Amino acid sequence: MDGMSQKTNHGTNHDAARTLLITGCSSGIGRVCALGMQARGWRVFATARREEDLGALRQEGLEALYLDYAEPDSIAACIEEVAQRTGGKLFALFNNGAYGQLGAVEDLSREVLRAQFEANVFGWHDLTVRALKLMRANGAGRIVQNSSVLGLVAMKWRGAYNASKFAIEGLSDTLRLELRGSGIHVSIIEPGPIHSKFVDNALKHFQANIDIEHSLYRQMYERRLARLRGEGKPNPFKLGPEAVLKKLIHALESPRPKVRYHVTFPTHLMATLRRVLPWRALDAVLNKASDDN
Ligand SMILES: NC(=O)c1ccc[n+]([C@@H]2O[C@H](COP(=O)([O-])OP(=O)(O)OC[C@H]3O[C@@H](n4cnc5c(N)ncnc54)[C@H](OP(=O)(O)O)[C@@H]3O)[C@@H](O)[C@H]2O)c1
Repeated sequence: MDGMSQKTNHGTNHDAARTLLITGCSSGIGRVCALGMQARGWRVFATARREEDLGALRQEGLEALYLDYAEPDSIAACIEEVAQRTGGKLFALFNNGAYGQLGAVEDLSREVLRAQFEANVFGWHDLTVRALKLMRANGAGRIVQNSSVLGLVAMKWRGAYNASKFAIEGLSDTLRLELRGSGIHVSIIEPGPIHSKFVDNALKHFQANIDIEHSLYRQMYERRLARLRGEGKPNPFKLGPEAVLKKLIHALESPRPKVRYHVTFPTHLMATLRRVLPWRALDAVLNKASDDN
């Protein structure tokens, strides 16, 4: 905390050490976290992709910027704008924007898998590296990665998303080791089921990118589609996005942020089972969980 203060577009004075960039703020976790951190006095740069979403964020008093992880130019332009508006004093980055590509591994085309990685992995890496340049110059910073319980264990029909979150876990663990002693901390949040537009968005990508009709798994997909459309039983473990905000606050404001934050009962359970069960026994649990969820 260097005690410097900055004047924002809205005329508010902010402590430069409480400046935060959050991606994927059009809905769900990103939106709630952007508003929640703003309410705690943080200067929040919130990204979205559609003009109407950017407008809605500005209405809430946030500094809204366009960013699509699949467009490297938009990442460069966004960080440039943040650097310019803050005089380089970006303290924290919350990588959050992502989507889930459903579909059996056998049904994923190379292009569909690549698109999942462009959004969920390569874009996160690109933005992180650019943000780190500012943080290194300041000698302090926080990087928080919104991973998932599916960054800890695998489930059927979620191979692309699983692989993207496993990749984020690996990159983040390595980065944390490399940043030791730099004053920059890396934390990983691992939510289980959270109320947001995630399922609706996953449904759209599933229908657009998987050849359901000609798949070996057609019948299972049809059952899954019915469930995604909300025709199944509700998930009793689903929490609101505020559960993630609570962990984000700790990761950003604690003098000793944790390496990992588990959110929801399923994440706590899976993290424990992964440690204690033999692989075959874990497979049996995950097979059943994949069919039930
Ligand atoms: N909900 C859950 O159960 C759950 C569980 C574990 C982890 N997570 C993680 O939580 C994070 C937020 O998801 P959510 O639950 O809040 O879902 P959400 O409501 O669907 O929000 C996802 C956000 O990511 C943005 N996004 C998607 N593709 C992007 C791209 N290429 N570039 C930039 N932004 C992009 C979306 O923007 P558009 O509106 O423009 O598409 C949206 O703002 C994700 O990283 C997700 O993996 C969610």
